[in-house]
Amino acid sequence: MLPLFSSYSLKGIPVKNRVIMPPMVCFGYAGNDGVVTRKNLDHYRERAEGGAGIIVVEASCIREDGRIAPSQLGMWSDNHIEGMSQLAAIIKSFGAVSLIQLHHSGLAAPESITGIPTGPSANPKDPNSRSLTVEEIHSIREDFIKAAIRAQKAGFDGVQIHGAHGYLLSQFASTFFNQREDAYGGTVEGRMMLAGEIIDGIRETCGDSLLLTYRMGANSPKLKDGIAIARYLEQKPIDMLDVSHGGSLISLPRSPKEFAYNWICYSGTEIKKAVKLPVGVVNEIRTPERANYLIENNLADFVNMGRPILADPHWVSKAQHHEEMIVTCLNCKPRCKWYEDSSQCPALKIRMQKGL
Ligand SMILES: Cc1cc2nc3c(=O)[nH]c(=O)nc-3n(C[C@H](O)[C@H](O)[C@H](O)COP(=O)(O)O)c2cc1C
Repeated sequence: MLPLFSSYSLKGIPVKNRVIMPPMVCFGYAGNDGVVTRKNLDHYRERAEGGAGIIVVEASCIREDGRIAPSQLGMWSDNHIEGMSQLAAIIKSFGAVSLIQLHHSGLAAPESITGIPTGPSANPKDPNSRSLTVEEIHSIREDFIKAAIRAQKAGFDGVQIHGAHGYLLSQFASTFFNQREDAYGGTVEGRMMLAGEIIDGIRETCGDSLLLTYRMGANSPKLKDGIAIARYLEQKPIDMLDVSHGGSLISLPRSPKEFAYNWICYSGTEIKKAVKLPVGVVNEIRTPERANYLIENNLADFVNMGRPILADPHWVSKAQHHEEMIVTCLNCKPRCKWYEDSSQCPALKIRMQKGL
């Protein structure tokens, strides 16, 4: 058996293989109330059946005014628990570990949703934005913790804190966005203080059994900052780090010429070397061979296969058994069709034509 399909014990919880379906929003599947719909359930059922070891439900917002789009899934109210519990049950019924990503957009939230965009500091490019007060920061911290409690009530095995891609916690982490001079800015400890308080608060309220993972940005803004963040997070009671990008693309780490993956994936492998926590890597890994290489050579503990699993929900089981039948992601430009309208995904059309 390929190492990619070997099992793993994540804090005693068995994971059947090393493939993670990472969080991927499906805007328009839910209504503006953020409640799970039949379309959400069917989407995850098909993909849980497809064999990933861990499924991370897409970015679900912890506050109504922190959403990135009106139809984003929500975790800001107890009304979300019922639908989310159906989602968690479906994922678990196929033997996958169920996580849900908790998210706040910060400065990235559109004004139509948030009014005045707020973050660690005002956005220099947006004169309408402003920095959060300390009281507001504390209130957001409590909302993350309440959302994690709801996730636990809904039956998820764990939560993933969204600390990447230039959203709120990523803004706090990065010297590029965070110009604060109080306790929530400055050194890595200051910039990570909100994230640290959220992690500690979730652990205290939800106990040890809930898996707690963190998706961080490697370039925050430089890879050396990402490594410092990973080392900070390692001191916190989390169970896994998932390494993606930090949104601000001002300082892109370079991967060595001989390294056959892009800089986001490279950064994940560098962070894997720097910490003892299990690490998941991501971005354009694309094929079973490339995914397996990362595991086999101990460059990562888990690989996230995002668009490949959107394109072919049974990517994992096909990779394990019938590789030639995989419908591949066509890498649409300027960006994946799933961001706006999944029915326009060309791989989906190929699947329908072939009846796969
Ligand atoms: C349609 C779409 C939605 C996404 N939504 C999220 C999200 O909710 N949270 C997140 O952290 N990343 C999100 N991402 C990023 C993916 O999790 C993943 O990191 C990215 O697609 C790169 O991996 P891949 O090359 O295997 O697709 C999204 C990506 C896509 C294509």
